[in-house]
Amino acid sequence: MSENQQSKIVNQQSPISRVGIIGGGTMGSGIAQVAATSGCKVKLYDTNQKALDKAKAALEKILNRLIEKGRIDSVEKLRIQGNISYVNTLKELSDSNLTIEAIIENLDIKKKVFSELESYVANDCIIASNTSSLSIASIAASLKRPERCIGIHFFNPAPLMKLVEVIPAIQTSEAVLEQSIKTISDWKKIVAVAKDTPGFIVNRVARPFYGESLRIYEEGIADFATIDWSLKTLGGFRMGPFELMDFIGNDVNYTVTETVFTAFYFDPRYKPAFTQKRFSEAGYLGRKSGKGYYDYDDNGKKVESTTVTLSAVEESLKEQIFNRVLVMLINEAADALFLNIASAEDIDNAMTKGVNYPKGLLAWADEKGIDWCVNKLDDLYSEYHEDRYRCSPLLRKMNRENKTFFN
Ligand code: NAI
Repeated sequence: MSENQQSKIVNQQSPISRVGIIGGGTMGSGIAQVAATSGCKVKLYDTNQKALDKAKAALEKILNRLIEKGRIDSVEKLRIQGNISYVNTLKELSDSNLTIEAIIENLDIKKKVFSELESYVANDCIIASNTSSLSIASIAASLKRPERCIGIHFFNPAPLMKLVEVIPAIQTSEAVLEQSIKTISDWKKIVAVAKDTPGFIVNRVARPFYGESLRIYEEGIADFATIDWSLKTLGGFRMGPFELMDFIGNDVNYTVTETVFTAFYFDPRYKPAFTQKRFSEAGYLGRKSGKGYYDYDDNGKKVESTTVTLSAVEESLKEQIFNRVLVMLINEAADALFLNIASAEDIDNAMTKGVNYPKGLLAWADEKGIDWCVNKLDDLYSEYHEDRYRCSPLLRKMNRENKTFFN
């Protein structure tokens, strides 16, 4: 069948109304709630009955809380619940127009599930993965019709986070991309289209928030609390990098960094930090283990005695810390644009809507001045002579041509 004929089949699809979700854990259950709230009939499949029971009970609790807050009424609750059925076999997803997989992050297992799933669903069913770190091309390659495969990457918690990254693989048809964007927009989410490269947008561009902060700590410039204070108070970030790493879990955050570093053929820009590796090895995972960069009580609340007295730290140092992390984030965002990972609008939307950054990084670059960014990066490079501080060619070109990202 020619490519044209194949995309015609997909073009003839009716709007997405039946959604199959594979994996009823943290992400799958959240995505099921989003799709059901928008009126789709959802089948949530998991090999583990306990996971399904947990997902059902969690939804009941969430919807009751929404009723208490006055966001929905009991009729709406019943409508959402009525839209979701919980199933024990993959075959029961056979009437889906769209399936979204959210199982364990293991390529071999995902491939096996995808190829079995393809034997049940119709030719025009879109088969999507919520993977955070695997390439969509590698998952699509397990299908007889790889053009129907796409990445649809939600953020945790899926019902609350506005952003969804949509990632076409090189095999994905234009029609599947269009229909995926339309469906996710109908679900009232903000779509950022990203190229199929490690970390997509958010998990790539956010790396220096952690990495540069850890580096500043490792150089002995400042302690965790001072670095967190600088990013929160001077930058307006909701959480400081060390608070955020403790919240995510040092094991999880370290693994993402290491995966991205490896996937980029060991580009020093993404190099993990020994500090975080040791914290992870020691079991100082953060909030969930009661100890990370800070100590936490049984309710997961930070024990304030573990923070330092900040008055002793000079204002100019705090400003330097904030500027150093910010310029590294801007450089990463600019390079993502330079390498066509996503549009400028989507890169800024991804960071503000996916991880609640106070401003889009490219808009922030305009505000600070492109010359300021280039000079700061060049200063860092001449200080360290390390490739991680190389300035994006795009920033340098824009500076030469006196251009800005948005104006
Ligand atoms: P989870 O561990 O909470 O849930 C995974 C579920 O999949 C479990 O209930 C498990 O029983 C089920 N499962 C495992 N193998 C299965 C199979 N062969 N068939 C059917 N069900 C199976 O994991 P989580 O956190 O929901 O992650 C799922 C996917 O979403 C992963 O690919 C992950 O990378 C991605 N993701 C996770 C995010 C997060 O913050 N947790 C954010 C965005 C993406």
